[in-house]
Amino acid sequence: MIKNCLAVETSCDDTSVAIVNHDGVVVSLVSANQDLAHAPYGGVVPEIACRNHSVALLPLIEEARLRSGLSWDQIESIAVANRPGLIGSLIVGLVTAKSLAQARQLPLIGVNHLEGHILAPFLKDESYAPRWGYDQPFIALAVSGGHTSLYHVKGFGRYEILGQTLDDAAGEAFDKFGKMLGLGFPGGVKVDQLGRGGNKKAYDFPRGMMKEETYMMSFSGLKAAGGRILAGLTEEEKRRHESDLCASYQEAIVEVLIHKLHRAVKKLGVRRVVITGGVSANSRLREASEEWALKNKIELQIPPVRFCTDNAAMVGFTGILHLNRGERHDMTLGPSPSSWDGDFTELAGSR
Ligand code: KG4
Ligand code: ZN
Repeated sequence: MIKNCLAVETSCDDTSVAIVNHDGVVVSLVSANQDLAHAPYGGVVPEIACRNHSVALLPLIEEARLRSGLSWDQIESIAVANRPGLIGSLIVGLVTAKSLAQARQLPLIGVNHLEGHILAPFLKDESYAPRWGYDQPFIALAVSGGHTSLYHVKGFGRYEILGQTLDDAAGEAFDKFGKMLGLGFPGGVKVDQLGRGGNKKAYDFPRGMMKEETYMMSFSGLKAAGGRILAGLTEEEKRRHESDLCASYQEAIVEVLIHKLHRAVKKLGVRRVVITGGVSANSRLREASEEWALKNKIELQIPPVRFCTDNAAMVGFTGILHLNRGERHDMTLGPSPSSWDGDFTELAGSR
């Protein structure tokens, strides 16, 4: 059995390296975010992202190894997020991971970044441990800047997509609203912070696809409604009401997400749920979903923020689980902008 793994994550704009053991214990995790580099453009610029990865990655690998207290001879395997993501960004992590695997003659595994998010709630460190394991069926809501998907996890490696967004991801809806309000990039965290003191009912934002009997979601109508409401306000009014605007907008997203989770739990009779991905750092989503879980006797697990946002620890843990099933990739492993066929299955029949 492989007991540890050095993992690399560069699928979007976070450069991250971790050393993780076979039990999900995060031995070391170091990341560099590029928010300042992309802020002037109001969104992630792919060319800037890959250039920054190539500057940050090697020093982070050395730092993660030093912090782990392990020598190179003690590192047993290499994992890398190779899909889905921005091609230029993925390539930087991939060529580096392949070079390490080749030079050290270590087993290599390419990991689906979204499977990493699904398994992130099962990581452990000195201040967090999951209350239950990934070996029993659960529902996973992965909400990030690029994805908003609901999965029925039937066991490790068996993921059925119940539904996903038809247009914008929830994180994108947060970020675009933040941008329209002049809060900078990424706007999600700022909308969260400003929304804390605001009135959730001050503005009536649409809840997309709430009434339809489906797990599918849509946030583009909300984004458009946000634009319309803001266009009708002066700059002074926007500043005066920004707290209420953020609280009301955020509530629309949170309500839709919990509604879809509730539908999945009721229809499938599964009482274990995880919420993961960058948006699961949102304080209102955490608060409202904890209340929902308590009321409905759901066993809810949301990882701490350091495991919610993009990080290499989730890639390492996912990788080591695949490696210990005997899976390996060779030097022909390439990057992919989308998931591979077979990574996930689609829910058959009506959604
Ligand atoms: O998972 P992640 O780090 O990267 C992707 O795979 O996309 O998610 C990033 C997204 C961004 O859209 C960011 O604005 C959002 O997560 N986000 C938040 C919060 N923290 C991060 N959205 C709302 N509230 C937050 N506290
Ligand atoms: Zn992500």
